[in-house]
Amino acid sequence: QNRIFSGVQPTGNLHLGNYLGAIRNWERLQNDYECIFCLVDLHAITVWQDPAELLRNTREVAAGLIAAGIDPKANVLFIQSQVAEHAELAWVFNCVARIGWMNRMTQFKEKAGKNRENASVGLYAYPTLMAADILLYKATHVPVGEDQKQHLELARDVATKFNNDTGREVFPLPEPLILGEATRVMSLRDGARKMSKSEPSDFSRINMTDDADTIAQKIRKAKTDPEPLPDSVDGLEGRPEAANLVGIYAALSDTTRAAVLAEHGGQTFASFKQALTDLSVSVLGPINARMAELMADPAEIDATLAKGAERARALAAPTMAEVKSALGFLNPT
Ligand code: TYM
Repeated sequence: QNRIFSGVQPTGNLHLGNYLGAIRNWERLQNDYECIFCLVDLHAITVWQDPAELLRNTREVAAGLIAAGIDPKANVLFIQSQVAEHAELAWVFNCVARIGWMNRMTQFKEKAGKNRENASVGLYAYPTLMAADILLYKATHVPVGEDQKQHLELARDVATKFNNDTGREVFPLPEPLILGEATRVMSLRDGARKMSKSEPSDFSRINMTDDADTIAQKIRKAKTDPEPLPDSVDGLEGRPEAANLVGIYAALSDTTRAAVLAEHGGQTFASFKQALTDLSVSVLGPINARMAELMADPAEIDATLAKGAERARALAAPTMAEVKSALGFLNPT
């Protein structure tokens, strides 16, 4: 039986990378799979979060997901810290994963930067908590952007080792689902860098809360090269900024980059950027408006998430009992 799990950190604004790399795909998958979507606040605090902002962002990201079409009744939508089994299983996985595996994680190296001695232990252990998120629900498929691929491989390694060590087939091996034409959306200011919440310049990203004028301004200022758009995908080679904008256009309009270039090849960036602005506003505008409506009633959001947590706990508890028994822990009778 197929089951989807995925998560997003409730930090800062959701941006176009989150939307095209993950959330839009979640929205598509919800009709065909049983889906569990999680706001991973335990992951968020691996770097310091101002408490008042974390609280506000948690509600805002929940509103963003619902506004983007994730149905909290048909799916399980909840906050990680409200289901204690995530932290519990993560500890077990800290005892399964090897230090050598963790040392290979590129995201830790990037996020810790030069001053690694001063990074939190949580940032280092981040991937085992992510493995716990997924495996607690015995998820079979995990829709994510390309940047999460290595973490998924670690989750598979953890599952394999746990099953081997205990001699029980507790966990299925989860498969990444990396879908669409924008699996790695790049910064609007630098085609070599990922679009990210932590990038200081707000002009590097389009946020799901940006209004039409802001979107227009950011796209107008986006870095490009002086050549017109090529006629075919081959012509995007060596033109990272052009490739990024074409990929975004393709994903937003549910088509391929080849189809976008068949239509817009030969155009100047000035006119293509106008088309991209119109398209972005037409997709993000309604989501934005719905998000603002939802944010007007935070108590309703909180209640929705509490119901989600209750459903998540009911799914998590039996796995945790199975894990404990496999390890030789005495389950209470
Ligand atoms: P997070 O919060 O950084 O991002 C959420 C999702 O958005 C995708 N994404 C992107 N996709 C394309 N282009 C980009 N520039 C871009 N930036 C972000 C991410 O790949 C992700 O799918 N570790 C995860 C959260 C997590 C998780 C999990 C995911 C925790 N537990 C279990 C899946 C399963 C993260 O930090 O995502």
